[in-house]
Amino acid sequence: MARIHLLDRQTAELIAAGEVIERPSSVVKELVENAIDSGATAITVEIQNGGVRFIRVTDNGCGILREDVPTAFLRHATSKVRAQEDLYQIGTLGFRGEALASICAVSRVELLTRTKGEPLGSRYEIAGGVEGRMEDAGCPVGTTILVRDLFYNVPARMKFLKKDSTEGNAIATLLDRLALSHPEIAFKFLREGQRKLQTPGDGSLLSAVHGVYGGDFSGGPPPFPQPGRGGAGLYLSGAGAAYPLCRAGDPPG
Ligand SMILES: Nc1ncnc2c1ncn2[C@@H]1O[C@H](COP(=O)(O)OP(=O)(O)OP(=O)(O)O)[C@@H](O)[C@H]1O
Ligand SMILES: [Mg+2]
Repeated sequence: MARIHLLDRQTAELIAAGEVIERPSSVVKELVENAIDSGATAITVEIQNGGVRFIRVTDNGCGILREDVPTAFLRHATSKVRAQEDLYQIGTLGFRGEALASICAVSRVELLTRTKGEPLGSRYEIAGGVEGRMEDAGCPVGTTILVRDLFYNVPARMKFLKKDSTEGNAIATLLDRLALSHPEIAFKFLREGQRKLQTPGDGSLLSAVHGVYGGDFSGGPPPFPQPGRGGAGLYLSGAGAAYPLCRAGDPPG
């Protein structure tokens, strides 16, 4: 009897999802990257229980057309790449068409979204990869994705999660970095109901640094010398901090 067989669709989906989503911070990374790609100027992330029970990401980006909503949750479905040639000039953070499919395979997802041209928004549910209701919703232009009960259907994955506080810290660190690298976007992070991060999104790196690191930086860290364009068309810009402000565990340099 043959020993090699094709996996059933559900098992294959769970394995594929495991490659993209390892822990709550992977969900936040994917959802915030989608929000950035959508052209959002404001992104809010809320979590409860380290993100294991509840992650909500809200953006004011372009939204998703009602007719595209179910497709967005299918594997290999993307608006960012059409053909092989596009792979050589990707200008977005996402392009695989994997993230939403992976997230909805291992959690309960609720989506609220509206595009500029639509009079009404859409509310859509999908859990464990199984589609639920789609209905009209009154909502602003943009997208809100609520992810509940991560790995509720994959107990083996659940066992590898660390304490809620550790998972929450991983999300906080990720958001600090995303906020610092996108000073043009106003980021807000609410952890267990408390505001932990807020940046103004005014395009200034120093404002973002202040939003992330707080009052110690009120004088502003010394900015790098004004960058000149190098021969390869690359340049480096940023801000440094005086040694007394370095924290244990911060990477050197
Ligand atoms: N917040 C959002 N605002 C607007 N459109 C979105 C948003 N999130 C997802 N989409 C749409 O859904 C599609 C599927 O999203 P998904 O994250 O699964 O794939 P992707 O971003 O194209 O690629 P990757 O898997 O590498 O992230 C996106 O291509 C985009 O068109
Ligand atoms: Mg994506």
